Amino acid sequence: MSAHDTPIPMVARRSGPLKGEAQIPGDKSISHRALILGALSVGETHVTGLLEGQDVLDTASAMRAFGATVTQLGQGEWTVQGVGVGGFAEPSQVIDCGNSGTGVRLIMGAMATTPISATFTGDASLNKRPMARITDPLALFGARAVGRQGGRLPMTLVGADEPVPVRYTLPMPSAQVKSAVLLAGLNAPGETVVIEPEATRDHTERMLRGFGAEVTVEETAEGRVITLKGQPELVGQRVAVPRDPSSAAFPVCAALLVPGSEITVPGVSRNPTRDGLYVTLLEMGADIVFENPRVEGGEPVADLRVRFSPGLQGVETPPERAASMIDEFPVLSVVAALAGGTTVMRGVKELRVKESDRIDAMARGLEACGVRIEEDEDTLIVHGMASVPGGATVESRLDHRIAMAFLVLGLVSERAVTVDDGGPIATSFPLFEPLMAGLGAAISRANG
Ligand code: S3P
Repeated sequence: MSAHDTPIPMVARRSGPLKGEAQIPGDKSISHRALILGALSVGETHVTGLLEGQDVLDTASAMRAFGATVTQLGQGEWTVQGVGVGGFAEPSQVIDCGNSGTGVRLIMGAMATTPISATFTGDASLNKRPMARITDPLALFGARAVGRQGGRLPMTLVGADEPVPVRYTLPMPSAQVKSAVLLAGLNAPGETVVIEPEATRDHTERMLRGFGAEVTVEETAEGRVITLKGQPELVGQRVAVPRDPSSAAFPVCAALLVPGSEITVPGVSRNPTRDGLYVTLLEMGADIVFENPRVEGGEPVADLRVRFSPGLQGVETPPERAASMIDEFPVLSVVAALAGGTTVMRGVKELRVKESDRIDAMARGLEACGVRIEEDEDTLIVHGMASVPGGATVESRLDHRIAMAFLVLGLVSERAVTVDDGGPIATSFPLFEPLMAGLGAAISRANG
C-alpha cells in the first residue's frame, strides 16, 4: 500500500510536564530484517515485538508476494513460513514498498541472485530516492536493473541466473547498501565480502548469524570487513524485536525540553551502532540514566529514565558519529534550537537522500519558527536560543521524522507549531499521538 491520500495536519502546543512510561514500538530496522530473513529460511520464524508501522507491513506484503507465508497471530506477534535461500517465487504483481527505502533496498538485495524478475515502486518520496547505490553492487552479482532516469523507482530487477560472489567497498556509509549486498550474497556461491570504511548499524550481520549463516567481521585499516559464506541453509528462528531507539528519541527529547518532565522508557536498544544521539545528548548535559542494562533478542537494551534538563549546551557532532545517529538529526536539531550556544552537525550529507532532504526540511522549518541556522552540503549548524517563537506551519515532506521533530518543537515554543501532514508518522510510529498524549503532550489533529 502506498502513502495515505489526504494530508493530516497536526499541531503541538506548549505543554506542562511530561510524566509516565513511554512504551516504544519495535525497532523498524530489525522488524524488516526479521521478515526478510524469515522468508529466506526453511521452517517457521516467530517474531514478537514486530513494529506494525506501514513500512514494515509493506515488507510483510512483499514477502508474501515472493512466496512466504506471513501471518499475524496477535499484536506484534507474527510468524513467517520461509521458502529457503534461493527459493523466492516470481511475484505476479508490482511490489509497492510505500515510503520505505529500507524495505525496497533490502528486498531487491534478497532477490538479486535468484533467476526471477520483479518490479518495484513506492510513494512520491521513495520514487525520488537514489537506487543506483544498490543496483551498482547488485550488477556485480549478475543482476540487471531497469528504472527511471537517475536510477529511480519504478524499477524492474532481473535476478542473476548464475550469480558470482562479490567483494564490495561501500562508497557511502549505508546499512541499507551493506545489507542489500549481504542478502544477495546468500544465494551466490563462495564468499561475499563487504568492506565498510565507517561502521553502520549491524543488525543484518547479527541476525544472519542468528539464522545460521557464517558471517565474520574483522576490523582492519580499510574498515570493517564483513565476510559471508554463500548458500547457507538458514533455519527459522524466534526473534524478539527490541524497542526502537530512533522512535524513543522523540519522547526522550521532548522530556529533556519540557520543564518539570520525568519519564521512563523501558527496553530501548542500546546497540552501539545506533547510540549516537544518546552519546550526544549526554555530552550536551542531558539527565538520562540507563537502568537495568541487559541483552534481549541478541541486542543490548536498557530502561531509560529521562528528566527535564535545563542548561543543555550546544556541541559538535563529529562525522564519524553520523551513521550511528543518522535518523536522529531532525530531533537533535530541535534540542539544539533550545540549547545554549551553537550545535554543529558534521558529515551529515546522507540526510539529503532520506525520506526527504532532511537538512533542507529542518533548516526551512526551523527558520520559519524563528531559529537561526546555517547549512552546507554536509553540515547543519543550529544557533540555540532561550525561547523559540514557533507559530509556523512546517512542511513534513512525506517524512515521518520531520513531522515528529517539529511536533516536539511545538511543545516548547512560544506559539503552536503546525505540521502540514502528520500522516507519514504511521510509517514508523503508528501510536505516536496517543503515546505522547498519555505523557501529557498537547499534540492533536489541527482541525480536530
Ligand atoms: C536503515 C539504514 C539507514 C536509516 C534507515 C534504516 C536500515 O539508512 O536511515 O532509516 O534499516 O538499514 P542508510 O543505510 O541509507 O543510511
